[in-house]
Amino acid sequence: MIYNSFDDTGLLRVLTFLKTHNTEYLSGQDLSDVLRISRVAVWKHIKKIQALGYTIESKQKEGYKLTTNSNLLLPWEIVSGIKTKILGQQAYYFDSIDSTQNQALKMADDSKNDGVIIIAEEQTGGRGRSDRRWISPKGGIWLSIILHPKFDISITTLFPIASSLALSYAIEKTCGMSPSLKWPNDLTVNGKKLAGMLVDVSMQSNRIESLVLGVGINFNVNVKEIGKKLKNTSNYYGIASLTEQKNKVTAVELVQSFLLELEKIYELLNMNQTKKIISEWTKRSSTIGKKVEIDTVNGKIKGEAIKIDEYGRLLIRNKEKISKIIAGDIVHL
Ligand code: BTN
Repeated sequence: MIYNSFDDTGLLRVLTFLKTHNTEYLSGQDLSDVLRISRVAVWKHIKKIQALGYTIESKQKEGYKLTTNSNLLLPWEIVSGIKTKILGQQAYYFDSIDSTQNQALKMADDSKNDGVIIIAEEQTGGRGRSDRRWISPKGGIWLSIILHPKFDISITTLFPIASSLALSYAIEKTCGMSPSLKWPNDLTVNGKKLAGMLVDVSMQSNRIESLVLGVGINFNVNVKEIGKKLKNTSNYYGIASLTEQKNKVTAVELVQSFLLELEKIYELLNMNQTKKIISEWTKRSSTIGKKVEIDTVNGKIKGEAIKIDEYGRLLIRNKEKISKIIAGDIVHL
């Protein structure tokens, strides 16, 4: 099933009307008269709205009443009421897809798709960093965002780090808890992975043509089941789920908040104002100050993580030698 935030106008009109009149029962005839669609069309839309996870009570002779919203990340729910200017103004939703990242990449060249988001309830071929698989069952937030950035190509490495900071702001605001940031762009809770970011960039000469940011958030997932599947893979250090933290935020609210925070950070990057991003990331980082180890093509590097530079590179000090790491998986020792 695929839905977008703008095409299904009949369904959206019925849904909006039910939402704005949710203290009373509305008869099929009333809905048909007000919305100027046939009673059969009203009935079909009601069935579809129910199938999408909304609860609609129906009483003989009285009609329909919407009692609860859907828990799904439906595109119109994300777009309506969002406070951004560009990000998430249009959304596509898949109940199941191989990878939202692959789908977004197919659409990324078109300048009309700037800010468009692709969201899936589950991914069958989710991609993680370093060509690892990303286990994406129902209950998580699997999302890709298409961007056509103005920022200089040299900032590209800072972008996913900045995006992880944006997600951390959103979680702080909506869930009242503060995840830690593990270099380069993981969010963790109690040392376990809560979320990760993946960036695919398309370049032309020395310019970024388009960029797709993929975000995976373990929102309400079974950590044991994911853990079982990933136990023996590289860079696995445990999985955390946001709902274990007993907060009441909905997935839609979290996505809306994240897109708003990301847009603010994206504007800073476009204006080349990176200092605040680096200092705020550092404040929340669990990596800086730690003994770390990383495998590189030139062998293992071990030492103290001292800071990230203006490009997001991690500086590791071993005795007097400082190594600048641009990418890779670090282990906190
Ligand atoms: C990581 O390895 O930490 C990055 C994980 C990124 C996963 C997200 S889920 C949405 C998007 N679609 C994908 O296939 N991957 C990214």
